[in-house]
Amino acid sequence: MIDRHVVSAGAASLAGEYVISAARPKDIVLLPAIELAAAKLLVGHAPPAVLAETTSPEDHARAQRRGLLWVALADDAPVGFAHVDVIEAGSAHLEELDVHPDHARRRLGTRLVMAVCAWAASEGLESVTLSTFRDVPWNMPFYARLGFEIVSPDQLTPALRAKAEGEIARGLDPAKRVTMRRYSGERRDA
Ligand SMILES: CC(C)(COP(=O)(O)OP(=O)(O)OC[C@H]1O[C@@H](n2cnc3c(N)ncnc32)[C@H](O)[C@@H]1OP(=O)(O)O)[C@@H](O)C(=O)NCCC(=O)NCCS
Repeated sequence: MIDRHVVSAGAASLAGEYVISAARPKDIVLLPAIELAAAKLLVGHAPPAVLAETTSPEDHARAQRRGLLWVALADDAPVGFAHVDVIEAGSAHLEELDVHPDHARRRLGTRLVMAVCAWAASEGLESVTLSTFRDVPWNMPFYARLGFEIVSPDQLTPALRAKAEGEIARGLDPAKRVTMRRYSGERRDA
């Protein structure tokens, strides 16, 4: 999938434009550095050990082969990505979303999320789910503006409950976390 609605990448990418695209195999090696740089935005919100984690190249490669990995490109190099997994029937789970801080607040996060949602709708999936921080401005409020709604704990599916329990096991405080869902067909001006 290529999002042809490109915008100037500005000073960070002198001659270039940003493009949202399906990831290519050659992009994968560049994604951990983006994830680690973006994690610095969450210092104080997540345990250092969690912020030092990166998605494995094997997981990225598996997602890439299945068409579940999107990148934001500046001058043909990734500066952000969205990694999706299908953890239950009828839904896609946004496992990871990162934009390098050098390219922040240029709507790349928004465009990556909306590319995932458009793909989910085109695949006939009912919704996109994720878990995120409740009180970080570029987490829950950001997703809420894009049409995601909070899933209350008693409404968690077994797969989403397993995700939440996995986060607790990794040291994340469940009081700070929230699960969200965006139904396909929801419309928001992104
Ligand atoms: C979340 C993330 C991908 C957003 O990427 P982005 O390209 O900067 O996002 P966008 O430009 O589309 O929109 C960002 C919006 O989020 C909010 N936001 C982003 N950074 C912010 C900051 N430092 N302070 C306050 N609000 C912020 C703003 O509302 C902003 O819109 P605005 O620039 O018009 O005010 C990026 O901040 C990131 O990689 N964060 C670290 C990892 C993370 O939190 N991932 C998601 C976890 S589920």
